[in-house]
Amino acid sequence: MTPPWRLAGTLIPAMAFLACVRPEGWEPCVEVVPNITYECMERNLYKIPSSIPSSAKNLDLSFNPLMFLASHSFSRFPELQVLDLSRCEIQTIEDDAYWGLNYLSTLILTGNPIQNLAPGAFSELFRLQKLVAVEINLSSLEDFPIGHLRTLKELNVAHNFIHSFKLPEYFSNLTNLEYLDLSNNKIQNIHCDDLYVLHDKSNLSLDLSLNPIAFIQPGAFNKVKLGGLTLRSNFNSTHVMKQCIQGLAGLEVQQLVLGEFKNERCVEEFDKSALEGLCNLTIAEFRLAFLDDFPEDTNGFFKCLVNVSAVSLANLYLNSLEGLPRDIKWQSLKLVKSKVNQFPTLALPSLKRYIFTTNRGATSFAEFELKNLEFLDLSRNGMSFKSCCSQSVFGTTSLKYLDLSFNDVITMSVNFIGLELLEHLDFQHSTLKQASQFSAFLSLSKLLYLDMSYTHTQVAFHGIFSGLVSLQVLKMAGNSFKDNSLSAVFTDLTNLTFLDLSKCQLEHVSPGVFDTLLRLQFLNMSHNNFVLLDVLSFNPLQALQILDCSFNKIESSEGQELQYFPSHLTTLNLTQNPFDCSCKYQSFLQWIKDQRQLLVEAKQLECAMPPDMRGMLVLSFRNATCQINKIVIIVTVVSVLVVSVIAFLVYKFYFHLMLLAGCKKYGRGENTYDAFVIYSSQDEDWVRNELVKNLEEGVPPFRLCLHYRDFIPGVAIAANIIQEGFHKSRKVIVVVSRHFIQSRWCVFEYEIAQTWQFLSSHAGIIFIVLQKLEKSLLRQQVELYRLLSRNTYLEWEDNILGQHIFWRRLRKALMDGKPRSPEGTADAENNQQETTALT
Ligand SMILES: *[C@@H]1O[C@H](CO)[C@@H](O)[C@H](O)[C@H]1NC(C)=O
Ligand SMILES: *[C@@H]1O[C@H](CO)[C@@H](O)[C@H](O)[C@H]1NC(C)=O
Ligand SMILES: *[C@@H]1O[C@H](CO)[C@@H](O)[C@H](O)[C@H]1NC(C)=O
Ligand SMILES: *[C@@H]1O[C@H](CO)[C@@H](O)[C@H](O)[C@H]1NC(C)=O
Ligand SMILES: *[C@@H]1O[C@H](CO)[C@@H](O)[C@H](O)[C@H]1NC(C)=O
Ligand SMILES: *[C@@H]1O[C@H](CO)[C@@H](O)[C@H](O)[C@H]1NC(C)=O
Ligand SMILES: *[C@@H]1O[C@H](CO)[C@@H](O)[C@H](O)[C@H]1NC(C)=O
Ligand SMILES: *[C@@H]1O[C@H](CO)[C@@H](O)[C@H](O)[C@H]1NC(C)=O
Ligand SMILES: *[C@@H]1O[C@H](CO)[C@@H](O)[C@H](O)[C@H]1NC(C)=O
Ligand SMILES: *[C@@H]1O[C@H](CO)[C@@H](O)[C@H](O)[C@H]1NC(C)=O
Repeated sequence: MTPPWRLAGTLIPAMAFLACVRPEGWEPCVEVVPNITYECMERNLYKIPSSIPSSAKNLDLSFNPLMFLASHSFSRFPELQVLDLSRCEIQTIEDDAYWGLNYLSTLILTGNPIQNLAPGAFSELFRLQKLVAVEINLSSLEDFPIGHLRTLKELNVAHNFIHSFKLPEYFSNLTNLEYLDLSNNKIQNIHCDDLYVLHDKSNLSLDLSLNPIAFIQPGAFNKVKLGGLTLRSNFNSTHVMKQCIQGLAGLEVQQLVLGEFKNERCVEEFDKSALEGLCNLTIAEFRLAFLDDFPEDTNGFFKCLVNVSAVSLANLYLNSLEGLPRDIKWQSLKLVKSKVNQFPTLALPSLKRYIFTTNRGATSFAEFELKNLEFLDLSRNGMSFKSCCSQSVFGTTSLKYLDLSFNDVITMSVNFIGLELLEHLDFQHSTLKQASQFSAFLSLSKLLYLDMSYTHTQVAFHGIFSGLVSLQVLKMAGNSFKDNSLSAVFTDLTNLTFLDLSKCQLEHVSPGVFDTLLRLQFLNMSHNNFVLLDVLSFNPLQALQILDCSFNKIESSEGQELQYFPSHLTTLNLTQNPFDCSCKYQSFLQWIKDQRQLLVEAKQLECAMPPDMRGMLVLSFRNATCQINKIVIIVTVVSVLVVSVIAFLVYKFYFHLMLLAGCKKYGRGENTYDAFVIYSSQDEDWVRNELVKNLEEGVPPFRLCLHYRDFIPGVAIAANIIQEGFHKSRKVIVVVSRHFIQSRWCVFEYEIAQTWQFLSSHAGIIFIVLQKLEKSLLRQQVELYRLLSRNTYLEWEDNILGQHIFWRRLRKALMDGKPRSPEGTADAENNQQETTALT
């Protein structure tokens, strides 16, 4: 045994060695899209790997110590469109470093401590649209050599050491520039001619956040038109803020953003007068974020914002919105994460969009009057709604979009009277009360989207979705249905294309549930308790493309129904189901194999049953195993059939078989009797007085089996006949008379005897005809008639001579096959015969 310390002693150097020596063909870059996208992030590269093909369009070389970009560094990649050189420790960029990159649209240089930037560093780059030069130790825009980049749309020089806001002359060349990010620099003062080059531009968005601005010269922005201006965390007091805002006078801006950042709060006490200067600006959209100490009384606060069309207030300690000016023209108001005391009851006739979300403090909804409101988002406030929903609640009849998701209890009491224009309705993750007690949506014939997911709704009422004739999307995930059975609640939803029924504890689908959903394209039934993939219920969904039945308890499906599966399906998710891979579901398993191209993760589907196949992949299921099993089954079935037939035959021909057995048991010569006599009981007198006397008492004596005498009492008569009669007798004497023919019993005995004769070749039947019989009577017993003509056939005569001849012939017939007695009585017999004959 090697001691552990010695093992470690050899292993650690070995591992260190392996870590340094890279194996042959070591590939430093990840090929994200072959020939197009390569990612070589943090590979300790000193130069661009030669393995990258020249067709590459996107190249990420970030976090490699490239240090230095020589001219023509990238000429090998003329197709390059996106080049990321973030944090490559680049200190020097030579002239023509990006030469040949005629298609480059995005260049990222973030985090390089550039000290030497050659004047021709960005030469060419005829199509560059976005240049990210964040944190590159840039101290001035003046000597940044980008004046020729006419296609530039976005320039980000945030996080540098720029002190001057004066935009250099070359900006007049950048006619396409839309976005300039100067945030987190060192700009303190803004002067009148700083924006001189922008005077004929109208669509530039400027971000000056996080600059320690102390002074803006009034008029600096006069007659300037901007797409956007962002000034967050720029001022270290309300006073500075107020002064600077006044300095913005004359600016015409699409979107003005003021405020601070969550972690960058400079203004300690906010004074509403700070915004007074906004009256001299033209603003379309106003945003304010992260201001502490919002004034208790908002009176006058918004007086310079009455002409703004959209206002967004986020993360403010805004207690109330009372006292808004009467002439306010806002069309859109967004209040997010504000600390309101209660739900603000607004009365803004101009308002069309109202977003009031994620606000702490508002616990219950209060009615308001917003006549022209079309879009209302009240989500994520944890509020309760006592009576939902009607025109009087929101004071509008124009509402098209209503989002009440992620709230508390919403009691449905009115069926959207006056809100017939609604197109979008969202209740998800709120608790809906009484939603399944009446047709709450009856009047919403224009509704396109309804989300009721996770609303604790138990669907019991069939008319719950009545009236939603235009509905395209219905989300019901996380609810439940009465008896866990999906019933016909979707009858009106003929335009539905998307239906989510996941996590609804469903077990069955009632027949006809989907019959009207002829346009449905997406159906999610995952996370339910279905045991069967119910193909027939999906059959009407002829437009269905995506079906998710994952996370159920599906073991199989009816094999013969699979042909009815919706034919336009492109995706079927059956993952996480306990498939039964028994042969009885062979056709289903085969179907899975055939449909693998539309099945999600088909290769990972596993069997859960039978136990010996658990964990086996469904795709590896082999039909051959079942063929063998089939053969086994067929053999079993056939054997059972054969056994049954045999049993039946045995039953049917019991007597015959017994005879067969008897024949074997009583071999030749062991016969106890010479003849078994079959006769009708009516002829018993003749048998006793004539037959028995003559044969048993004559010489040699014959032993006769007579059922009146030899049958064992108590044993069933048929068994007696067989065992005692036929088995033990060599011959059969049939006494044929009118009585015999008419008696069924005798016929039965005779039939048995016939079989016996068939089985035993030596045996013969001797017929004794007692009276002259009419031929017609005989012909009724066709078989008997035939046998009479074929076998020994003796007629009993009334005269003595005839009787003598009769006995002689009968004895002769009986002698046939009789074993000779040891005393050698054959001659004596003959003699005796002769004597009898002579007497
Ligand atoms: C990548 O480029 C090489 C050489 O130009 C070519 O042979 C190969 O087919 C390309 N691969 C793909 C996926 O386009
Ligand atoms: C920034 O560049 C200047 C020269 O322009 C240099 O002296 C200074 O060290 C650089 N700073 C960093 C952090 O590289
Ligand atoms: C503006 O573009 C023209 C033509 O491309 C060029 O001659 C001029 O030097 C550019 N101006 C600056 C300041 O770079
Ligand atoms: C103005 O700039 C924005 C981006 O800031 C852009 O989306 C919009 O298309 C531009 N409008 C015009 C007219 O150039
Ligand atoms: C605000 O900034 C000015 C100038 O940068 C500075 O003189 C003053 O001390 C700062 N005030 C506070 C409260 O930080
Ligand atoms: C608006 O600007 C004018 C001068 O342009 C100035 O007299 C006035 O005080 C300004 N108003 C506000 C509210 O700043
Ligand atoms: C709002 O617009 C009206 C007319 O369009 C104008 O008279 C009024 O001064 C404007 N108010 C502000 C604060 O800009
Ligand atoms: C259903 O959708 C079709 C096509 O999108 C549309 O033409 C039809 O008007 C819709 N039916 C209803 C009742 O909205
Ligand atoms: C179906 O719903 C489940 C859970 O609600 C979700 O995880 C899954 O992504 C959905 N399926 C599809 C295809 O969107
Ligand atoms: C089923 O597969 C689809 C397609 O890959 C996927 O979007 C969906 O999330 C899957 N369902 C679940 C419940 O994971």
